[in-house]
Formats: sequence, structure tokens, C-alpha cells
Amino acid sequence: MPAEKMLSIAFEKNPSPASAEQRNTILQNPGFGKKFTDHMLLIRYSEEKGWHDAHIKPYGNISLDPALCVFHYAQEIFEGLKAYKAKDGRILLFRPEANAKRFINSAKRMAMAPLPEEMFLQAIHEFVKVEKDWLPDQSVGTLYLRPFMIASTPYLGVKASPDYLFMLIASPAGSYFSKGAKPVTVWISEFYTRAASGGTGEAKCGGNYAASLIAQQEATQNNCDQLVFLDAAEHKWIEEMGGMNIFFVLDDGSLLTPPLGGTILPGVTRNSIITMAKEKGITVREELYAAEQWIKDIQSGKVREVFACGTAAVVSPIGFVKTKHGEYQINDGNPGKLTQEIHKALVDIQYGNAPDIHNWVQEVK
Ligand code: COI
Repeated sequence: MPAEKMLSIAFEKNPSPASAEQRNTILQNPGFGKKFTDHMLLIRYSEEKGWHDAHIKPYGNISLDPALCVFHYAQEIFEGLKAYKAKDGRILLFRPEANAKRFINSAKRMAMAPLPEEMFLQAIHEFVKVEKDWLPDQSVGTLYLRPFMIASTPYLGVKASPDYLFMLIASPAGSYFSKGAKPVTVWISEFYTRAASGGTGEAKCGGNYAASLIAQQEATQNNCDQLVFLDAAEHKWIEEMGGMNIFFVLDDGSLLTPPLGGTILPGVTRNSIITMAKEKGITVREELYAAEQWIKDIQSGKVREVFACGTAAVVSPIGFVKTKHGEYQINDGNPGKLTQEIHKALVDIQYGNAPDIHNWVQEVK
């Protein structure tokens, strides 16, 4: 790695970390996103100094000026990736360079300073090394890593901030959905949309998620676990399930998923599934798919299985679809065979239980 792309990361050890007993209790049943490790990593950016002041310090509250741009105009981006404990005790990361690249693209879209890929990867590796005792066993889950970056100049004018704060926190995680691997029920949102052409749909910015919450509330009010967004121009074409990409298994054994085109988040899991499915000889079509056609295809039996995918939940079967007009069941409400095979193939690579023919896995040493 070129020296100018490397950071010198200072380390301040937490003087009162969780005890081994407290940690083990958490690691047996961590839930998702509720518990955090003993430390956090910070890197600052300014126009004069570039990336500087990288340090790992005890996890805790941070003091911020209330005038920071991020609080007013939401100049913020984030990523999500995981560290996995292999059976032989090795600690593995799955395609972290893909997250680093997406973080750069998100930064560019939000007019923020992009953190170089090498620094992103160095931060992830060094931080996971510090928090290595916080990895749950395979049977429980992973250590979920949340890098994020905020605009950190105190200024109320609407313009791109000249200063940024990058942070990395980690949270031991079990299943993302409380239902685990059970199929979820989705609501098709006919009014709310997630992203329009020219907007921020393919950036992983907090604002996209904030704007999705009211639609998620509508789904919950209709007794659904999740929602499916349609496109903003015609309210016709399926885009994403909440914050996850969506796949359809058709009766000819092929896979169909909406194409990326600026409004859909380019998921690392989505990309991995497409690659692996094609290698297995499965036809994968990235094509527009109308919600109305989806319902017809469920009724005719053309749609055999449907699943959503993302880093947090990996692969989540969809068993029921609800709209204002009715409720439709997929595969008798059970997880499909191909859905389960894809899920297993992916987590086997992530946990180091299957050969890594793509060089997707990096060991933290
Ligand atoms: C993921 O699927 O990994 C997500 O983006 C969900 C996350 C925001 C919790």
C-alpha cells in the first residue's frame, strides 16, 4: 500500500471495557444493532490537512457543535459489512473493498470528501483486530460493522461542508429480522417512493432511509413486515424491498431482479448472488418487472419463489404480498428451495466453510 494512503491510527484503550462475562452474555443473544463493542474509530478530514487524526478510542458519546451541517442538511453516508468467525477461529471479511468503493461513490454523490479505499480497508482491518473478542460464534451471527461519515463544519449556509468526520463502530449481531429465516410479508407501497431518477437512490445515505420510514409505517399498519417500493416516475416497476434488493425465481428456474439504474442501491449481496447464480448455470435477468405482472405471475404459478437480500439479513424469503386489493401467497408461504440454496452457498463462503474461488474473503490478521 502506498505510504500516503496509509494512516497512522492512534489507540486509546478503553479503561473499563465490558467484562468477559458481560461480553459472553451479549454474544449469546446479541439481537441486531443494540449492543456495541468497547471502542470506536474516528478519522477527520479538512481541506487543509486531508485525512488526519485517525484514532481508536473508548466507545462513547461524542460532543458536536449543534450548527454542524449534518444536523441541518443531512450530508451523511454509511456502509454496512460484517466480520465472520470461521470454525478454525480465523476472522474473515466479505468483499470489504466493494463497500469501500460504494462508500466513495456515495461520498461523491453527496458532495463529500471520498475516503480512499486503502484507508477504509485499513480502518476496518485494524478496528476488527482490536475488537476480535466481540465476534459471535457462527451459530449466533457476526460482528456487524458500521462505517459512516458526517459533514462536520459548523455552518448554516447550504453548501458542501469542507470538513468531515469518518467513524466506525461495531455491533455483535444475530438475525436482522426477528422472524429469522421465516418468510416475511410485504406491502406494496403505491403512494410513497424511495428514489427518483437523478436523485440519491444509489447512494447509501441516511436520507434515503429516513424517507422510507413513513412507508414502512404504512406497511406495519397493514400487518406487513416490510414494504416494496415502486419506481417514482410511473409507480409501476418494482425497485427494492425497504433497504434490500429483491429477486424473483420463475418457473423456468431463472432469476429476475430489477436493473440498477441510479435509483436502486447496488447491493454487494445482490452482485454476489448474480455472480454465483450465473456460475451455476442459472439464467439471471436484470429487467424491469411491473408489480401488476408480479401479482398475475404469483396467481398463475409463474413466480415460484421471491427473496430479498442485503448485508444485514443476507437472504430473506418473501412469503406473502399484500396490496390494497388483496393478499397473495408465494410458495405456500414457505422459503423456496433455490432461495435456501443461495443463502447457504453465500454464508458458507462468508464463514469460510466453502472454497473462496472469487477471492471475496479477506482474513483479518
Ligand atoms: C442491509 O441490508 O445491509 C441494509 O442496508 C440494512 C441496514 C441499513 C440495517
